[in-house]
Formats: sequence, structure tokens, C-alpha cells
Amino acid sequence: MATDWHGADKLDADLDSEEFGLFDDAVAGDARDPYPELARARREHPVQRLDSSLMPHEESAPVFFLYRHEDISRVLRDSETFSSGHIIGLIMGPVMGEHIMLGMDGPQHRRYRALVSTAFGPKVMNRWESELAMRVGNALVDRFAERGRAELVREFTFPYPTQIIAGILGLPQDDYKQFQRWSIAILSFLSKQEEAIAASQQVKEYVAGILEDRRRSPKKDLLSDLAHAELDGERLTDEEIFSFVRLLLPAGVETTYRSTGNLLLTLLSNRDQLEAVRADRSRISQAIEESLRFETPLLNITRLATKDTEVQGVPIPAGSTVMLMLAAGNREETRHPDPDRYDIARAEPKPHISFGQGPHICLGMHLARMEMRVALNLLLDRLPGLRLDPEARDPHIRGQVFRSPTAIPVLFG
Ligand code: HEM
Repeated sequence: MATDWHGADKLDADLDSEEFGLFDDAVAGDARDPYPELARARREHPVQRLDSSLMPHEESAPVFFLYRHEDISRVLRDSETFSSGHIIGLIMGPVMGEHIMLGMDGPQHRRYRALVSTAFGPKVMNRWESELAMRVGNALVDRFAERGRAELVREFTFPYPTQIIAGILGLPQDDYKQFQRWSIAILSFLSKQEEAIAASQQVKEYVAGILEDRRRSPKKDLLSDLAHAELDGERLTDEEIFSFVRLLLPAGVETTYRSTGNLLLTLLSNRDQLEAVRADRSRISQAIEESLRFETPLLNITRLATKDTEVQGVPIPAGSTVMLMLAAGNREETRHPDPDRYDIARAEPKPHISFGQGPHICLGMHLARMEMRVALNLLLDRLPGLRLDPEARDPHIRGQVFRSPTAIPVLFG
């Protein structure tokens, strides 16, 4: 049997560059600065109707794009009128199984969320911080700390959350590389469905073996918690657990590696703010929140209108898809003055909506914040004089569905 993660000192983190590059090109898209267009849309048609649906399931139903914070927030809080149910059939079901909580509504969602939420509460994070995130982060930095230079996306921000999720689940460390390959395949589900479905099946078979073991002899890991979680005498079925594990890849790995990259590149490109954080680490939390607002890692999420309704007086017929443009809401000038400026010292910072809102608000937000805080602290501690490589070719954030830097070439020491 392979080594357990918690006892592991050395982590194998090689990431095939080509594999990663292809993945990122396909998934992120190339838009460098979508913000002027989003600002124009928010000004000119904050509730925008498009009649030729881009959604494969309902050619004839209209799609509405919402760009204002207030409207997005209202929709997310009213899950009776705006359902998440279509998400399963639309894209995720065939890859992740029929039981993903992201696509559940009402009592079914409440039951499922109650069963998994203690494992992601703020208290549990203290344990994962000391036992896992610090260990994973330090082991990754060990591999390049002496070199004086690194490319932080391939060498740090991508392997970091993948290893943390694998560790939280309790997967054996020796299986890490394989898990990472499956992650990339599953994350590419929009562009390469067949490969994603195959990887998803393999993850299911792989997890099934470990789950069986944890049912017999529980350990201190998430698979054991999921195997034994109980609500009103009911437990999660194996299929429900497999769906949850597969959802954690796009939900927990993709968003976090992108947001950690956004945080690092934005600070490295704003030297005065990086120095302010370096000198006073209590500013890290605000740097994280401001970077989540300024460079929203997941730009939009979707809902389906269950009945005829309206937003800002615009009628929305039952069956319409509603696209909630989180990134546009996060740069709304009436809420965040001078919204296109990254400023960790905002006088009255208002909460962003990068984690969504309402019943589906991100289950992993405490984990994501903890991971980003640990990452920034340890990179600042261990890489003195951390700075962008001046010779590097134009590192920048890009993407129109997800956003993050493709590369962060740095020098230090
Ligand atoms: C900065 C990083 C992250 C961002 C920006 C993010 C964003 C989001 C958003 C916008 C939603 C709501 C989707 C919707 O309402 O349709 C969501 C839900 C979710 N997130 Fe995250 N997420 C992040 C990190 C994580 C992590 C680390 C985990 C891992 C555990 C995670 C697990 C989930 C799950 C399971 C849901 C579904 C919750 C539900 O349906 O009730 N996320 N996330």
C-alpha cells in the first residue's frame, strides 16, 4: 500500500508542461481584457436578452445576461424562481455523475449540503492548514528555492490545490501524478468530452476501492467522513460520494489555482502593494479579497427561470437561461469606486461575489482563502526579494470563462 499523505515528506509534483499548456489554452480562452466590454454592457443593457441560444439543450429559449451586482445577488438568493437543476443535464452530468450538488435545488440540495458542509467549515481548516497546506506548499517550494528562479504556475499554483484536495480526500501520495492527469482531463470537459468521461470513470473506480477500505476502517480524511456522514438516519450513497469527489476537481482545484495565480501576478505587478503586504502580513486577507474582486477567477455562472418573472422590469419567460456575469458585478463603479484599480487599501471595501451567494455559495471558500493565505505567506517567507523576471515575455492574466495567468516567471534571492 502506498504512503499516506499525512506522513509524506516528499511530494512528487512534476507537471508535464505540454499537457498543462494545451489544457489551459482550451479551457481559459484568450481574452486579455474583457472588462471594457463588460462595463459597456453593464451601462448600456444591464439585463441583456439574446434570442439565439448558445445553450445546446434549448435552442429556442432566450438567454439573459445580467451584469449588475444587485440583480445577480437577487437571482442567486431566489433559487425557487432561478433553478440550478439544468447544470447537471447541460454539461456536467455525463462527466461528473447525476448527483452533483451544484445542480440540485431545494430540499435535496439542503440535505446534501448539510451532509458535506462540516468537512469544509472554518474549524476544520485549522487542521488542514497545519497538517496539509503548509506541508504541500513547502515541499513544492523546496524543489526550486535554491534555483533563484521559477515559473510559479506550473511549479506551484497548479500542483498546490490538486495535492491539497488529494490529501483532504485521503488519497495515497504515490497516486498523485495519476490523480493530476485525471484532473486535467476532467477539467477539460467542455472541449474534450470523451476523454473527460473516460477519466471520470477511472476516478470512480479508483475512489471506489479506497472508499470500501474507509467504510471498514475509517481514517482522519474526507472520504471517511463522507462514508460515515449521517443526517436523519440517512447516509450518502456511493454514487453520491463519487459525484462529489469528481465535482471537487473543477470546483476546488481549477478555481483555486487560478485565484492563487491572480493574487500573485497582481501583487507582483503592483510592487508598492506587494511591499505593503510583505511588511504587514495582516494585510494579506484584504489583498486576497481585493484580488478575488479585481480578477474574478470564474467569470459567470448560470441559472434557469422556473416561471415567468422579471429583472429590472425586463420580462424573463419560464425556461430562459440566465447568465450571471460575476466579473461585471465585481467591477461595478457604484459599489467599488474606481473599480479597475487594484487597491488593497480600499477605504470601505464591499464584499465581492466571486464565491456566488445564496444556497449554493461556494462550499470551499474557507479552504480557498486558507490556501491562498498559506501560499502567499510561505512564498514571501522563503523567496526573499521575490519579483517578476524582467526578461520574461509579457506575463498576463487572460481568459473569458476562467481567468488566470498562463505563466508567472519570477526571480528571487
Ligand atoms: C477562489 C476559489 C474559488 C472560487 C472563485 C469558487 C467559486 C464558486 C462559485 C461561484 C460557486 C457557486 C456556483 C453556483 O452558484 O452555481 C461555487 C460553488 C462551489 N464550490 Fe467553489 N470556488 C472556489 C474554491 C472552491 C474550493 C477550494 C472548493 C473545494 C472544496 C470548492 C467547492 C465548491 C462546491 C462543492 C460548490 C457547490 C456548492 C453548492 O452547490 O452548494 N470551491 N464555488
